[in-house]
Amino acid sequence: MGDRNGTSGSRRRRTASRLSVQGGGGPVAAEEEAQDHPDVGAGGDAPTPTPAPDKDRDTNVGSGHLELRCHRLQESLFSSDSGFSNYRGILNWCVVMLILSNARLFLENLIKYGILVDPIQVVSLFLKDPYSWPAPCLVIVANIFAVAAFQIEKLLSVDALTEQVGLLLHVANLATILCFPAAVALLVKSITPVGSVLALLSYSILFLKLFSYRDVNLWCRQRRVKMKAASSGKVSGAAAQQTVSYPDNLTYRDLYYFIFAPTLCYELNFPRSPRIRKRFLLRRILEMLFFTQLQVGLIQQWMVPTIQNSMKPFKDMDYSRIIERLLKLAVPNHLIWLIFFYWLFHSCLNAVAELMQFGDREFYRDWWNSESVTYFWQNWNIPVHKWCSRHFYKPMLRRGSNRWIARTGVFLVSAFFHEVSAFCFTHLPSLVPLAWIVGRFFQGNYGNAAVWVTLIIGQPVAVLMYVHDYYVLNYEAPTSGA
Ligand SMILES: CC(C)(COP(=O)(O)OP(=O)(O)OC[C@H]1O[C@@H](n2cnc3c(N)ncnc32)[C@H](O)[C@@H]1OP(=O)(O)O)[C@@H](O)C(=O)NCCC(=O)NCCS
Repeated sequence: MGDRNGTSGSRRRRTASRLSVQGGGGPVAAEEEAQDHPDVGAGGDAPTPTPAPDKDRDTNVGSGHLELRCHRLQESLFSSDSGFSNYRGILNWCVVMLILSNARLFLENLIKYGILVDPIQVVSLFLKDPYSWPAPCLVIVANIFAVAAFQIEKLLSVDALTEQVGLLLHVANLATILCFPAAVALLVKSITPVGSVLALLSYSILFLKLFSYRDVNLWCRQRRVKMKAASSGKVSGAAAQQTVSYPDNLTYRDLYYFIFAPTLCYELNFPRSPRIRKRFLLRRILEMLFFTQLQVGLIQQWMVPTIQNSMKPFKDMDYSRIIERLLKLAVPNHLIWLIFFYWLFHSCLNAVAELMQFGDREFYRDWWNSESVTYFWQNWNIPVHKWCSRHFYKPMLRRGSNRWIARTGVFLVSAFFHEVSAFCFTHLPSLVPLAWIVGRFFQGNYGNAAVWVTLIIGQPVAVLMYVHDYYVLNYEAPTSGA
């Protein structure tokens, strides 16, 4: 039965494509119909007999039965009952329309503003004073915290510290990692906004990595104690020779491999790829360079003028103009975000992983098919999702929290890190009610469309709010005070 349906399904698809090629039917199609469905004309939905082989069809062409039948029982392609799902042409049409409409916008932008792309100007985003490099210095200083965490773990591994003292030292170290760069970014005048974002981001990543480093080493110690208690501490020979076991992992080489590896979750034995594929690596590096240029160009040419023009409506609280500006900003912002996603999660992380022969390349899943905001957040940034799940969510569940509280906790922690690193693409706290609304009222394709709308509209709202606040704090305050 299954076979029969499959055969008739593929036959129907083949006929459909042939119809489109031949302009809607003709003698050959009619002959096919006569052979495929001899009963359709009489009984309508009678079972379809096994189709005749192609060879017979060819010999019947021109035999005089050609114009007998040109209709059969079938649904229109757009009906869901037709089982037709090949919309590749429509997808191509969407892409062509997108390119054409954006080409018009691009031309309009060029005519209005001229060429604004200036690679030299980018340097000033990172550097205010050529003799002062606070952001790179901050990143170099971060090594001290990594080494501190390593030394604490070393002492704990030989029982030179009690677990409580170790925990206290780790907490102090991790708290400093959060506070120190924020204080520097606020107090040092020569640091630029872009420089401080990058430095704070590096520190946030280091915090998450060292948190994981501490957790995993603690789990290893707990296991060692359990194994000792069960007096089965001997690890089987074959496995022990190939893999590193605690405390042999406590080396600088292992720590720095983890710090540079494209993951936030520590493991004693990461899966490793067998070799570095040079062509793959070269492609990723070329993509990294190309997309960096493209993003910078699009931001300078397209985003900056729109943002600058949005400040006045925001100041005057002119709502209709604010909405118009938001919608105008939505297109370039979304395009840049998509490029950013590919650049970071595919090009950069794969390039680093290839260089380090890091085997786990699941940096993202199919978030573009998300039918809920929660699914999107679980799948667009897998390193962060894995960390949240392994070091925050599951431990909370194990301690007896219910799922809703644990999820909200994860979102709040995530929001905190987004704010700490001023990574202004999202306003995460607002996502909790948003996730609820989308999940409650939109399902299936509507849910997917709702997720896209929140991505396309939500981000420019956040960008404009952050830029507005920065503008008011840094450029408006002295004037209003005067
Ligand atoms: C909160 C979050 C971690 C939840 O993840 P999730 O996969 O939906 O969680 P689930 O409830 O389905 O459970 C996941 C795991 O918990 C385990 N689990 C469930 N109850 C458990 C319990 N009582 N004890 C221990 N583990 C439990 C499940 O077995 C499952 O394990 P598996 O992943 O190994 O299969 C996820 O939504 C998330 O990562 N959110 C934040 C993402 C984010 O901020 N991203 C920012 C990117 S910039």
